[in-house]
Amino acid sequence: MNIITIVGARPQFIKAAALSAALASYPAVRERLLHTGQHFDDNMSGLFFRELGIPAPAWNLGLGSGTQGGMTGRQLAAIEQVLIAERPDAVLLYGDTNSTLAGALAAAKLQIPVAHVEAGLRSFNRRMPEEINRVLTDHVSHWLFAPTESAVHNLQREGIAAAQVHSVGDVMFDAALHFAGIARARSLRHPVFAVVATRPFVLATVHRAENTDASERLRVIVHALKALAGGIDVVWPLHPRTRKALASLGLAVESTAGLHCIEPLGYLDMIEMEQAAQMVVTDSGGVQKESFFFGRPCVTLRDETEWVELVDAGWNRLAPPTCVAAVTAAFHAALGSAGVPVRPYGDGDAAQRIASTLLRRAD
Ligand code: UD1
Ligand code: UDP
Repeated sequence: MNIITIVGARPQFIKAAALSAALASYPAVRERLLHTGQHFDDNMSGLFFRELGIPAPAWNLGLGSGTQGGMTGRQLAAIEQVLIAERPDAVLLYGDTNSTLAGALAAAKLQIPVAHVEAGLRSFNRRMPEEINRVLTDHVSHWLFAPTESAVHNLQREGIAAAQVHSVGDVMFDAALHFAGIARARSLRHPVFAVVATRPFVLATVHRAENTDASERLRVIVHALKALAGGIDVVWPLHPRTRKALASLGLAVESTAGLHCIEPLGYLDMIEMEQAAQMVVTDSGGVQKESFFFGRPCVTLRDETEWVELVDAGWNRLAPPTCVAAVTAAFHAALGSAGVPVRPYGDGDAAQRIASTLLRRAD
């Protein structure tokens, strides 16, 4: 079975690390990676391939940046050329980025079966580019690999045939379990570990367009994090989108005592930071789940989340960044809290389950 896997953004490299390793254990599978180039800085892309042992991409299209339609369109045209030349048996896609949608459209129009990992997630907010990407991708996919029961229900509600939906668990859980030990065993770490080694700290990440491209929301986030840093250190690895948005609004973050703004971390540093933190503050999908995997309370700076089970279980609190006092109250409520024990993301064998389903080639 000849598979082309399309990746482009940071979280997709991590998901691919789990599934590519599982696929490699099947001699009948030949998987090659196509990197769209959506993320391109070394600490957003190359570092993940080196650290996580992901096979080097067979193609790198170098198509990052630009408008939503511009990026997706350029990727679509270039992916189509590769798929016409290669005619794989399946195209494998992750998540909800522009690279995901471009790959889905290119493959479906060439009648190449699409496998979608992380199918069925919904925010029910069509202002998010990711919601459009994931709904459209699901509806042209042949295999839909749902990470949670709520994702399965969403797909049922949208009329997708039950035989195409596979409830397998979350490959990010597989990755976190696998790499946590590898991260612990390393000798070299980011210098920020030394800064917070003997102090409690909070780990923050922010990158969603709805927060970075809305100046009022970004201002609320900055003020709330600065206020928090007055009482407990805050480590904030800045996504390039966020760094640019802060600079264009003239929002200074570097000189605040206790607020440590750093470059994006590699995955191994990141999951160790998550384990060491007292609390996680984020608008990331992946980071919401990882804070739960490592038993850390999380505050999510969004109006809604696709990972509803963590809010229900008390591990995650939604704090829309519209009012500094409300966000600050959420921080204080979350610090020191814990949710109830739940296991919504499978048993850490999602990648194996996906690989064996693909190999059965159900149709
Ligand atoms: C994208 C995904 C989002 C995902 C996130 C993971 C879409 C619509 N969004 O958002 O779902 O959660 O990736 O991190 O696909 N940039 C750099 N260097 C890089 C990468 C990006 O400078 O290595 C800059 C780009 O030039 C662009 C901005 O960051 O100006 C945003 O990048 P983009 O890939 O469009 O969106 P993300 O916010 O990263
Ligand atoms: N991540 C990382 N370094 C960072 C921030 C995040 O390695 O500085 C990892 C994080 O541990 C998680 C993934 O990137 O595995 C989440 O990706 P991101 O937040 O970019 O996107 P999302 O999950 O929201 O789509």
